[in-house]
Amino acid sequence: MRTLKDADIKNKTVLFRVDFNVTVEDGQVTEDFRMRAVLSTIQYLLENGAKKIVIISHFGRPNGSGSEHSLAPAAEHLAKLLSLSVDFIADTPGEGLREKIENSQHAVVVLENLRFYRGEEENDEGFAKELASLGDVFVQDAFGVMHRAHASIVGVPKILPAYAGLLLEKEVGVLSRILSNPARPLAVLIGGAKISTKIRVIEKFLNIADNICLGGALASTALKAKGMAVGKSLVEEGVADEIKNIQFTDTRLHLPVDVKVAKDRDSKDDIVTRGAGNVGENEIILDIGPGTQTLFSNVIHNSKTIIWNGPMGYIENEAFREGTYRIARELAAVSAGTFTVVGGGDTYPLLDELGVMEKVSFVSTGGGAMLDFLADGTLPGIEALK
Ligand code: 3PG
Repeated sequence: MRTLKDADIKNKTVLFRVDFNVTVEDGQVTEDFRMRAVLSTIQYLLENGAKKIVIISHFGRPNGSGSEHSLAPAAEHLAKLLSLSVDFIADTPGEGLREKIENSQHAVVVLENLRFYRGEEENDEGFAKELASLGDVFVQDAFGVMHRAHASIVGVPKILPAYAGLLLEKEVGVLSRILSNPARPLAVLIGGAKISTKIRVIEKFLNIADNICLGGALASTALKAKGMAVGKSLVEEGVADEIKNIQFTDTRLHLPVDVKVAKDRDSKDDIVTRGAGNVGENEIILDIGPGTQTLFSNVIHNSKTIIWNGPMGYIENEAFREGTYRIARELAAVSAGTFTVVGGGDTYPLLDELGVMEKVSFVSTGGGAMLDFLADGTLPGIEALK
């Protein structure tokens, strides 16, 4: 990838793609990790003489446009983080917008949600040209969305001189090192709802990891595939073909040995622990049990590199956060010299909540992007920068 050190940005208008897919509640950004992660690139661009920084991002998965998916709150929050005035311009990319940007009194300008325009997700060439016309050079730092072949990810770099930002360079550097030369033993913990999005990474790590632990709802799909009773648990249908490639008898693959179940995912009490396979037909698996927590903790403390992506239980309900909290705490307590990496949009806010974010060696801004990178060693957005 071409990186910022190869770029001539002096007096240039820099089109800067970021992932500001953050949490907004009542018009305020309440979780801003992905925004903080690109501040150093913004500082670098300002310190190295960029005339303007035009920030573009997606936010959520809007169907059309709507104020609940506007990037206006992110622009306001960015101004606070930078202690700098930031202009928010909601105009559609096209004629007149470049002029408006150039005439703005502010060095940093944020544009409206790219996904308000169909051309973004359709990777429309015309839309990519409109975007590219807004800058002289393009800097890509949206690691979290680089697995999507969208106009601002793969289209714009074909048109403008394009470079990786500091965040992207760091993400790719850390994750590449894990793939090529991890300190061993290497462990991977994977949770979350859908096994379909994680099958490739599980298969890949069955080749290279020393241990793989599966939790979250996706473990229920795995338990069912092994022929075990999972009651009314969330099980992904239609993945039988893909799942059959996973060797569940592989001794490096660890499924829950016990689980916490309830009859309702909103239960606050009536929660019981069952041995895996002993789940009643009206029960739902909603967290890993204490035996599984201990098993996974032992794996963590016997490893030198650990990758974790996805919650271990149904964390939307506080009653089922215990397994995920335990994993976070154990990761934060590993011995010196152990390299820990965490990713996934629902995982890192919990680290923050527990105050252990700083104790993890590297927190990736990618969820799906991190998994795809680990499975393939590259991403469409990275290839576009080559
Ligand atoms: C994410 O939250 O993982 C990224 O911002 C990508 O979002 P998407 O899954 O809606 O493309």
